[in-house]
Amino acid sequence: MCGIVGINSSKPVTGVILNSLKKLEYRGYDSAGVATLKDGFINETKCEGRVENLENIITKNKNDGPIGIGHVRWATHGQPSEVNAHPHSSEKVSVVHNGIIENSTLLKKHLIRAGHVFKSQTDTEVITHLITEYLKKHDLKTSILKMLKRLHGSFALGIIFKDFPDIIVGARRGSPLAVGYGPNENYLGSDSYALKTMTNKVSYLDDGEFCLIHKNQVEFFNSEGEKVNKEVLEVSSDDQNYDKGNFKHFMAKEIYEQPNTIKSCLKEYIDKINKDINIINFPWNSKEIESIKLIGCGTAYHSCLIAKYWIEQFTDIEVETDIASEFRYRKNKFKSSQLYIFVSQSGETADTYAALDLCIKNKMKTCSIVNVVESSIARDSGYVLPIHCGPEVGVASTKAFLGQLLVLYLLTLKISFLRNEISKDGYSTKIDNLLELPKLIENTLKIESEMQEASKDFSKAKGSMFLGRGYSFPIALEGALKLKELAYVHAEGYPAGEMKHGPLALIENGMPVVVIAPRDEFYKKTVSNMQEVISRGGKVLLISNKSTDEVSSENLWKKIEVETISDDLFPFLMTIPLQLLAYYAANSLGYDIDKPRNLAKSVTVE
Ligand code: F6R
Repeated sequence: MCGIVGINSSKPVTGVILNSLKKLEYRGYDSAGVATLKDGFINETKCEGRVENLENIITKNKNDGPIGIGHVRWATHGQPSEVNAHPHSSEKVSVVHNGIIENSTLLKKHLIRAGHVFKSQTDTEVITHLITEYLKKHDLKTSILKMLKRLHGSFALGIIFKDFPDIIVGARRGSPLAVGYGPNENYLGSDSYALKTMTNKVSYLDDGEFCLIHKNQVEFFNSEGEKVNKEVLEVSSDDQNYDKGNFKHFMAKEIYEQPNTIKSCLKEYIDKINKDINIINFPWNSKEIESIKLIGCGTAYHSCLIAKYWIEQFTDIEVETDIASEFRYRKNKFKSSQLYIFVSQSGETADTYAALDLCIKNKMKTCSIVNVVESSIARDSGYVLPIHCGPEVGVASTKAFLGQLLVLYLLTLKISFLRNEISKDGYSTKIDNLLELPKLIENTLKIESEMQEASKDFSKAKGSMFLGRGYSFPIALEGALKLKELAYVHAEGYPAGEMKHGPLALIENGMPVVVIAPRDEFYKKTVSNMQEVISRGGKVLLISNKSTDEVSSENLWKKIEVETISDDLFPFLMTIPLQLLAYYAANSLGYDIDKPRNLAKSVTVE
């Protein structure tokens, strides 16, 4: 992952780089650094921890100059520490890197033999020494080309040079990289978001390309060193509201935004007058789609799992789901009648992008469901459906998950309607039901204090389980993931019916177990499985919906009842208590909720 920023200007750049790095912390936050060039010398400042720490050091050492590069890190090689933080500099060059150099061990051996001394445990430092070595014998462009040819793996690079004091080099393979244009200054960024505070005019490097960023122009080259022309694009310059408002954490704000984000998304897609779903210019004939493959990672993958149930219910289309990191290395049988759907909040997840790229290379139909519309996944897929939920800052995905679910549901209904697999009346009723969602989510959020109370036992537990059937099974997976990543409590999500095939052995006296059982067709079966857990000592928190029939609540530890809605929309409501549970468990433990340990918001390494 990691975030990169570079500025070539005639004014001091460190302050602007630090501001940009603060925005990039969603890509990594275990260490940070800046290198500038001034009066013929490279000055490097770096530290473990957040950009705030770096800022404090720089205030004292006054590292500044008219050209510089900065980095926030998510460690891949070598633990988070000052020495492993980027930039990695020699006397001649300074390098920031996002990605992984797969042949770094071998390259390091050769370089050590040639007399180079390494300071860090990172793969990145080989780039520093490699380019330093080539510059002894070759000009700048030849040295870059030779160095890039030696590197295996994925990377986005920013490099400054003692002997070329008016140039920043950018290069990419696998990882995205953007160039920005300003008045008498130009920029380099790991994505256009990194550049947003400075400019809205950007170009993107294509795979294998590199560029020379001067103050007044940028030259682009392909992997053979031939000049290429670049389109200059205008990205939206709206620096949206990244303020926590009155909330203690972005995650809390994002949970509470959900009634509004769902409302905005519905507004974008639903034509209330004609009772229709606006999915305009969909490039394929829905009747010719024979199968659908849904691909994502983490929470986005969970939304794919739920969509599988919807697609099976509303269409005759065969549907499969895949985890992007598995799909990309599988011997896939590509079918031209198959639609490949990629789900990603950031639109930059390396594995999801690689899966998309594989489909593009095999000339498949590709559709992406993203939040960040300027992202690599959105730019390169055949068709894009945005989730319109605004920036999600908290590392744990909340409002984007509901947004993904909503767009997947809308797409399923629309395809079903176009294929005549749902009646006009059925379609209208489903649209009416959807319009109720924002209010019902708002009402469901009122269970906050009950979830806060329940979370106390989860935060103290050594392990916990989340169970559900049907649509509620992926919700159980999502609830467990949230608890793991925020409260660092071991949690497993399981189909309730699978417990007796092994995991029931984990249940011991007092173990907290969440059972998700809305009054749908699976309700009675799930309640039976719940009783099996209770009789083995499990402390069950049942999440169901309000109803007149009494739940068999014998020996239940706690019962939470959310609003009632049509069965297929329960996933939207059932998610809310689980988000609150994880949030409050982590809060009571005093953890950094918006930036949980070891994680990053945008996962740009595989
Ligand atoms: C968990 C979470 C992650 C992401 C995953 C994919 O709360 O946020 O599991 O869902 O890293 O990220 P995107 O959606 O950006 O592709």
